[in-house]
Amino acid sequence: MTINEIIRKKRDGAALTADELQRLIGGYVQGEVPDYQMSAFLMAVYFRGMTPEETVEFTRLMLHSGDVVDLSAVPGVKVDKHSTGGVGDKISLPLAPVVAACGVPVPMISGRGLGHTGGTLDKLESIPGFRTDLSIEEYKRVIAELGLVLIGQTKEIAPADKKMYALRDVTSTVECIPLIAGSIMSKKLAEGIDALVLDVKTGRGAFMSTEERSRALAEALVSIGTRFGKETVGFITRMDEPLGYAIGNWNEVVESAECLQGRDVPDVMELTVVLGGAMVWLGRKAGSLEEGMERCRQAVKDGSAYDRFLRLVRRQYGDPSYIVDPSKYRRSRHTETVSAPADGYIGSIDSLELGFTGIVLGAGRTRVDEAVEPAAGILLRKKCGDPVRKGETVAEFSTDRTAAVDEAKRRIERAVTVTPARPEPQKLILSVVDKNGVRPY
Ligand code: URA
Repeated sequence: MTINEIIRKKRDGAALTADELQRLIGGYVQGEVPDYQMSAFLMAVYFRGMTPEETVEFTRLMLHSGDVVDLSAVPGVKVDKHSTGGVGDKISLPLAPVVAACGVPVPMISGRGLGHTGGTLDKLESIPGFRTDLSIEEYKRVIAELGLVLIGQTKEIAPADKKMYALRDVTSTVECIPLIAGSIMSKKLAEGIDALVLDVKTGRGAFMSTEERSRALAEALVSIGTRFGKETVGFITRMDEPLGYAIGNWNEVVESAECLQGRDVPDVMELTVVLGGAMVWLGRKAGSLEEGMERCRQAVKDGSAYDRFLRLVRRQYGDPSYIVDPSKYRRSRHTETVSAPADGYIGSIDSLELGFTGIVLGAGRTRVDEAVEPAAGILLRKKCGDPVRKGETVAEFSTDRTAAVDEAKRRIERAVTVTPARPEPQKLILSVVDKNGVRPY
């Protein structure tokens, strides 16, 4: 069969064989299948989908397009977490040191900001000196020494995904469940993990805005993990308002460090403790999710998680003195406030709008090669349900971009609504997905 015929077969809705998928993916990595044929294939998958068998085979081919890291020399069950992305989603920063402090090794290969969502790499790189571009050899050394490591996707990790992802980004083929599932799982399976916890976001600021689509994505991810022999548990969590108060790279590092020092930011800590509890449980350092959660709380209380974070920063060439004293950090040229238009309660905070505002301020990018401004971002002063008085500050924002100030102010005013009645509190964690199916949390 020619590449043309394989594309036509998918276009007409039939399932491809392992051999046909190999011809396409292998040919693409080798440069024999051009971008225009791969784009047509991706669009055909977008409309026709893939069977579970095709999705597993697609993942396997992307995984084996590069190296699979062997961490068998590191003792313990290695567990990572992956989030499908949100606004203010800094959870990896407090989570990895908490779980490592509980004795479970955490190898983490993370991404940069994507669309309106932030990325762990950009946040870490806002710490002066911090390097995420370690070689795989150094990645192995750091996890063996510290029990955790956080780096970016290297050229050895799932190169087929790296090439295909860039193409999906410019051909409107990102929001497709089998393509997302294969992309995420090929990278995660390449890291050397034994088990995986997934945070699948749902709502306004998530890539999947309905719970039904988020559930389908979680099921696809869990089923791939299980097929590859990795215990995988997913949580479906709400992403309507941003997580925590801080949005923007350095702002989020500071909030994470404060949480590790005992500041209670309720949604950030709830998610850290639940996802961490699941990781500690899958890592065999607790007999149940609840016991894992208790161990995570303890690691924050006794300071061992914060200590691990400072050691990680130092080991990956960052300067921990900025974490200890954030007032040393260079401030943005402009800091402005946004105030409440009326008395009442915060009714909603639109995370999608604030994610885009972050880009306007310089905290995110519109092109892959764009630099981010580390100090740019938003600090909310209120969360949904909080009472406010007319004129009281609801948010402040910072940027070096003079031209962005008015637009950012308008966007934040639009994103934060005030209502006369207090809105009903919403559950943050909606359901759990494992190999036995979906159940309410
Ligand atoms: N994150 C990924 O790594 N891949 C996708 O396709 C979407 C989000």
